[in-house]
Amino acid sequence: MFDTRYFHSLRSGNFGAELYYLSEVDSTNRVAGELATKGMREGTVVLAESQTAGRGRNAHSWYSPPFVNLYFTILLYPPADRLHYLPFLTSVSLAETLEIYGVQCDLKWPNDILVGRKKIAGVLIQTSVEENRLRYAIVGIGMNVNAKSFSATLDSVAISMFQIITRESNREELLATFLSKFEGHYSTMKELSWDELREMVQRRSTYIQGCEVKIEQQGRVIMGTTAGLDPMGGLVLETELGPEVFYAGEVEACRKK
Ligand code: BTN
Repeated sequence: MFDTRYFHSLRSGNFGAELYYLSEVDSTNRVAGELATKGMREGTVVLAESQTAGRGRNAHSWYSPPFVNLYFTILLYPPADRLHYLPFLTSVSLAETLEIYGVQCDLKWPNDILVGRKKIAGVLIQTSVEENRLRYAIVGIGMNVNAKSFSATLDSVAISMFQIITRESNREELLATFLSKFEGHYSTMKELSWDELREMVQRRSTYIQGCEVKIEQQGRVIMGTTAGLDPMGGLVLETELGPEVFYAGEVEACRKK
């Protein structure tokens, strides 16, 4: 069981000061969306011990068994002109946190956190826009922490911290560490230039530059070589027909050129 009192004794800053801890829920993103419509404060975190319908990107589900991993969503009201920073700030903060625990990871655009080819953490950002105004953003994060194994189907695509460092990690400490890193980056994002952020991401990603990839987007498959991020966070791909920028889609395979 996640110990919320211990978590509060460890955390600093505002993110997580308001913590909704639920033993079981369909999706923490859904609950956070509801709290957003009630105007809950920025940095409110919804954490679940388990999810019955954890949502992943591209209509995938997120495996969410109890007592081993972290499933949480942070409610934010970012300035619209910095919305495209969010996926990257989140994945860099996750990578920095995992590094503290001895896990080196690779960032796959837009925000998969990988070890080798397997996902150790995933991020699902959802936004609400009304009358052309950004109302809120919710950042849902699943981290595979102490899971000892995965089902046969997931085993080829998922990995946990435990499987790498062969010891259990304290989930309260891990969440407190991540939130403090993330809040630090988030609070300075106004002053952070896109070039600086792009550099932070590229340093941690083997995918973003010079990689032969396949992108699947709404049933369309495009092959090409990655050529960095455009100023809005899109992935630039050199294809047979020239450069093309992607703002959504699933990147598959990567072979360094
Ligand atoms: C991905 O497909 O990589 C994104 C996975 C995001 C999963 C997290 S778990 C907590 C939050 N609640 C959800 O329903 N999804 C996100």
